[in-house]
Amino acid sequence: MKKRIVLYKRLSDALLAKLEEQVEVTWVDTGAADGLARLRDALPGAHGLLGASLRLGSELLDLAPQLEVISSVSVGVDNYDVADLTRRGVMLTNTPDVLTETTADTGFALILAAARRVVELADWVREGKWQASLGPAHFGTDVHGKTLGIVGMGRIGEALARRGAAGFGMRVLYHSSRARPEVEARHAARYCSLDALLAEADYVCLTVPLSASTEGLIGARELGLMKPEAILVNIARGRVVDEAALIEALQRKRIRGAGLDVFVQEPLAADSPLLQLDNVVATPHIGSATHETREAMARCAVENLLSALAGQRPPNLVNPI
Ligand code: DGY
Repeated sequence: MKKRIVLYKRLSDALLAKLEEQVEVTWVDTGAADGLARLRDALPGAHGLLGASLRLGSELLDLAPQLEVISSVSVGVDNYDVADLTRRGVMLTNTPDVLTETTADTGFALILAAARRVVELADWVREGKWQASLGPAHFGTDVHGKTLGIVGMGRIGEALARRGAAGFGMRVLYHSSRARPEVEARHAARYCSLDALLAEADYVCLTVPLSASTEGLIGARELGLMKPEAILVNIARGRVVDEAALIEALQRKRIRGAGLDVFVQEPLAADSPLLQLDNVVATPHIGSATHETREAMARCAVENLLSALAGQRPPNLVNPI
């Protein structure tokens, strides 16, 4: 008999067909009004779950006594209590690697957009305000040749370092839970303390996973260490930054600007003070959101899930159990 899974992220027809060859699939649209009720109904029979962007707390997991694996279509696993899943004997898998380059592209898109005021000035043109050649009031600041500070030197951090060093001739500083001599050799990057990085970098780019030790990592004190002309870019998780402190620093022009793809509350409320600020570029958590990469992530998640349900050790197991 086929094992049963609950799918709560839309897949391409090809991937859905591949899944349905091996397992019985119940689709639940968690965004629908009755989504949670339908999920609760489906959980008791489920051997696997495949999806993303859903906080699966113990109250929901208690409804799924047969659960063997959760296959998350994400690299981040901050939506899960990994220790609790391990205690329950439930495997958790994620989708690293396939999104590294795309997410680093997003980081650089935000660096460039914030530095060169791309969104603000494109809106200005659209509003018919381009009546004469520009003066200093509309100038941006250079990216090439500046100092890039990367907080978190995992795969995405290294992909940013490569872009910065090789593509933009930037000096690269990084801070991470451990020094990475091989990355230093490849990209002439220099390991330094977080405080030193904040004080020296022109662009501070956050790529750390959200955890107890990174929540609120960048608060008022840290923003106060940054240069007034520096730009903060967050492609990690919103809660890595104290958002109220950031808003204040941006309002007071304590730092030049920010490029933000992630927020404490997502979707970002339309009345967020961040959206009142010209020196903020805000994007809707698009780090990995390209057709190619989202399909690759979904394929990876399907392979992880099928491998786990076949009794194998899945390729991207987060919690070896
Ligand atoms: C990830 O894969 O973790 C991205 O941030 C999407 O949630």
